[in-house]
Amino acid sequence: MAQGVLLPKHIGIIMDGNGRWAKLRGLPRNAGHKMGAKTFRKIVRYCNKLGIKYLTVYAFSTENWKRPQEEVNGILNLLREYLNDAKNYKHENVRTKFIGDLSVFEGDILDKIKECEFESENFTGLTLNIAINYGGRNELLHATKVIAQKVKDGEIQPEDIDEAMMDNHLYTAGQPDVDLIIRPSGEFRLSNFMLWQSAYAEYIFMDILWPDFNEKSLDKALAEFTKRNRRFGGI
Ligand code: IPE
Ligand code: IPE
Ligand code: MG
Repeated sequence: MAQGVLLPKHIGIIMDGNGRWAKLRGLPRNAGHKMGAKTFRKIVRYCNKLGIKYLTVYAFSTENWKRPQEEVNGILNLLREYLNDAKNYKHENVRTKFIGDLSVFEGDILDKIKECEFESENFTGLTLNIAINYGGRNELLHATKVIAQKVKDGEIQPEDIDEAMMDNHLYTAGQPDVDLIIRPSGEFRLSNFMLWQSAYAEYIFMDILWPDFNEKSLDKALAEFTKRNRRFGGI
C-alpha cells in the first residue's frame, strides 16, 4: 500500500496498450479497449481510496480518429456505456469532468457528458478528468484564441497575458499542474498529452499493458515518485 508516502496532487495516466493486449490473445482490438475500460474504473476507485485529489486519464486523442471506423465506434460505445453507468457510482463521490474539444461529439454523448458533470459537480472526493478528443496542442490553440479575442475586444492588454492567465484558459483551469505522468505499454513518449501542465511533471514509463495494470502497478509508480528529487530549477 502506498499510504504514508508523499502522494502526488495530480496524476496523469496515458492508458496505452489495449490493442497489443488483445493481439497477444488473438482477440479483436475492441476487446482490449473493453478490458482497458474495466482497468480504468478500478484505478479511479483506487486513486479515490488513496486520497489522490486529481486524476487525468487520456482516453482518446485528437490523433486517434485516424484509426479504423470500427475501432473508433467501439471506443465511443464504451464511452456511452460509461456515461450510462455513471449514476450508479454516485456513492463514490468522484467529481467527473471531460476535457478536450467536445464539440465534435454527437448530441447523445454531449448531453450525457453534461449530465454527468453537472450531477457530480459538488462531489468532494477525487476530481477525475477524462480526456477525449484531447490534444495538448489543440488545448493551447483553444486557449490562445480565447485570449486573443479578449485582447481584440479590449478586455485585456497583451502585457496582461501571463502564466496564470494561460492556466485559467486551459481545460484544467483551477487545477494544480500534473505531478506524475504514468505511461504503461513500454512507449516512451507523451503523444500530445498535457503539454503545458507537465512542465515539471515526473514521468514513469512502465512495461505493462494497460488492461494488465492494477492497484499494485499504481503502488509501484507512487513508490518511485516519492524517491524522485524534485528541484523545480532550484538546488
Ligand atoms: C490505448 O491503447 C487506447 C487508445 C489510444 C484509445 P491502444 O489502442 O493505443 O493500444 P496499442 O498501443 O495499440 O497496444
Ligand atoms: C495515446 O496513445 C493516446 C491515448 C492513450 C488515448 P496512442 O496509442 O494513440 O499513442 P501513439 O500513437 O503510440 O503515440
Ligand atoms: Mg497505443
